[in-house]
Amino acid sequence: MSMQYTTVQQEQEIQQILALQALNHPIALSDTAMQKEGFVTVRHEPNVLRQMNALYPSVIAVDGAQLAGYCLVMLRQFAEAVPVLVPMFNRLESLTWNGKLLRESRWFVMGQVCVALGYRGQGVFDGMYAKLKEHCRADFDFVVTQVAARNARSLRAHERVGFETVEIYPDAAAGEIWHVIAMDL
Ligand SMILES: CC(C)(COP(=O)(O)OP(=O)(O)OC[C@H]1O[C@@H](n2cnc3c(N)ncnc32)[C@H](O)[C@@H]1OP(=O)(O)O)[C@@H](O)C(=O)NCCC(=O)NCCS
Repeated sequence: MSMQYTTVQQEQEIQQILALQALNHPIALSDTAMQKEGFVTVRHEPNVLRQMNALYPSVIAVDGAQLAGYCLVMLRQFAEAVPVLVPMFNRLESLTWNGKLLRESRWFVMGQVCVALGYRGQGVFDGMYAKLKEHCRADFDFVVTQVAARNARSLRAHERVGFETVEIYPDAAAGEIWHVIAMDL
């Protein structure tokens, strides 16, 4: 494995992200697989994903021609673009992190992270977040995201790389309890 951590530059990478995302959506997974391996909540409209990457490229891990993982950068301009994330964006504006209101701080949302099945548990997750920090540090102070309480694998991996809990809230419409977590860059 010769892993490279880079940013999205080509349409083909957008297509690879969409394909990996589809494989990790609950529609494609058994309950057992979701409990063990985690799952993604959102399937992006291709054009939304293109626009997100045009404004600020996301981080990817590539092994030759293979996409090993992705970590999406979602700027605040996209607050209305993905319906299931609207309640999160609304809440974020009124929360505080490091004693400062988010609405007065420089942050972005990590819009989704995924590591391809054959590459899990091998440091790809950590490698992508290291690259994300390096890539975004000059423009932002911290990164925020939310993870479903029932995605224990993702919660643990995020805690390991340094994310801390901002708040935990129930979302009846989505049928989830969300952990809002943040990490300084
Ligand atoms: C979540 C995901 C990105 C993490 O990447 P990864 O390479 O699997 O992560 P790692 O193996 O490095 O770390 C997982 C951690 O959770 C632990 N873990 C593994 N399975 C677990 C489970 N079912 N419950 C709780 N913890 C679990 C591991 O032991 C490890 O912790 P440790 O370093 O303290 O031992 C990846 O599993 C994935 O893409 N899953 C499907 C999509 C997804 O859930 N995306 C996140 C959406 S928020």
